[in-house]
Amino acid sequence: MDEKLKQVEQTLAKYGQEQLLDEYNRLTDKKEKQDFLDSILTIDFNQVKILYENSKEKPSFMDSKIEPIDYTDKSKLSKEEYEKYKAIGEKKIKEGKLAVVTMAGGQGTRLGHSGPKGTYDLGLDTHKSIFEILTDTLNEARKKYEVDIPWYIMTSEENNKPTVEFFKQHNFFGYPEKCVTFFKQGKLPMLSTDGKILIDENGKIKEAADGHGGIFQSMLRDGVIYDMKARGIEWVFIGGVDNVLVKPVDAVLIGLAEDKNVLAAGKSLVKANPQEKVGVFCKRNGKPSVIEYSEITPEMAAETNENGELKYGESHILCNLFNIKAIEKISQMNLPYHIAFKKAKYIDNNGNLVVPDKPNAYKFESFLFDAFESLDDLAIMRVKREEEFAPVKNAEGVDSPETARKLYLDFHEKNK
Ligand code: UTP
Repeated sequence: MDEKLKQVEQTLAKYGQEQLLDEYNRLTDKKEKQDFLDSILTIDFNQVKILYENSKEKPSFMDSKIEPIDYTDKSKLSKEEYEKYKAIGEKKIKEGKLAVVTMAGGQGTRLGHSGPKGTYDLGLDTHKSIFEILTDTLNEARKKYEVDIPWYIMTSEENNKPTVEFFKQHNFFGYPEKCVTFFKQGKLPMLSTDGKILIDENGKIKEAADGHGGIFQSMLRDGVIYDMKARGIEWVFIGGVDNVLVKPVDAVLIGLAEDKNVLAAGKSLVKANPQEKVGVFCKRNGKPSVIEYSEITPEMAAETNENGELKYGESHILCNLFNIKAIEKISQMNLPYHIAFKKAKYIDNNGNLVVPDKPNAYKFESFLFDAFESLDDLAIMRVKREEEFAPVKNAEGVDSPETARKLYLDFHEKNK
C-alpha cells in the first residue's frame, strides 16, 4: 500500500477525521489523489482539535478587569506639542524608516464584489478602484517626503493572484514596483458543528483565511519582517484595505509613539453613540486591548467620566502603527482564535453538494488587536472621522460605497 496513504489514514484515524477519505476514494485521477493527500498532510490536526474543543468554551470577558485607557486628541494638541511630534515623525519618514502594510486578505462578503475588495470601483467620476485611491495617498506621501515608502500588501490564498494581476495591469498606479511586496496570509480548515473538516465545492479541503491577526506570523513566514529589517525599517503602519481616507503616513502618530516611548500606537475615533457597533480601546487586566461591541454591556458602553465623555468611547479603526521590535515579538506568539459560525457550501460524505440556508460551519480567526495585550502600553491618537475614516464594508446603507464616496469627495473638496 502507498506509504503516504497509510500515513494519512493513521493520522485521520487518530483525530477522527476519516470522512476525508471518502473524497479521496471518489477521485479517479492519480495526480489529483496525490495532491489531495498532500493537502491533508499540511493540516495541523492537533491545532484543529484544540480549536474545536475551545469552540465550546464561553469567552472569559467577565473575569477580566476592564478599565478606560488614555488617549491623545490630535485636534487638541498645543502648537508646540504638534510641531514636536511632527518633526520627530517627519525625520523618521525622510530617513526611510517607515513601511506600510495593507491587509487585503479578507473575503469582503458583506460588500459582495466578485474580485478582491481593493479592485472595487468606488463609483467616482474617475472610476478609481480602492487600490488606486490607496496608491494615490502613498504616492503623495512619497513625493512630499522625497522617499520611497515600502508597501506590503497582505493577500489570501484565494485573492493573491487577481490582486497581483490587477496591480500589474495598471502599472502599479505609478508606484515604484520595486517598493511593492505581496504576501499571503495563513488559512485554517472550516469545521462542521461536530468538528469534522469539510470538503469544498471543488473537492478540496475547505479552508478560510485565519483572520487579520494572522498577519504577524505571515510576515515572519513570508520573509516580510526580514525584508523590513534589511531595509532599516523601524515603524510599520498596518491598516485595512477598505478605508478610502486612511492616512498611513502620519508623522504626528510616529512622533507621539516615539515621544511616549511605546512600541505601538493606534488611531481612534470618538464613538458616534454609546450603542455604535464598534470595538473600543480599553485596558484589560492592565494591558492595552480592544473590547468588541458584542462583549461590552449596554451599561458599560454608556458610562461617562467626570468630563461627560464616554469612558469607553475611543473606537478602534484598524489603523495601527507598530515598531518592528513589537512585530518581531508578536510574530512568535500564538494569538487566540475567535469562532465565527458561517454559511459554508460543502460536499457531504456521499459526494453531494450541500448549499446551506443558515450557518453550518465554524471558521476560526485571530484578530490583530489581540496583539495589543502583549505590549505594556499603547499610544492612542484620536483623529477626526471626516478626515480619516471612510470604510467600504456593506453593499448598501452604512459604511457602503455610497457613504465612503461622499466622505472621500467632501474631504478632497475641502483639501484641494
Ligand atoms: P473585515 O473584518 O471587515 O472583513 O476586515 P472583510 O473580509 O473585509 O469583510 P466581510 O466581513 O467578509 O464582509 C477588515 C480588514 O482586515 C482584512 C480585510 O481585507 C480588511 O482590510 N482582513 C480580514 C484580512 O486581511 N484577512 C482576514 O482574514 C480578515
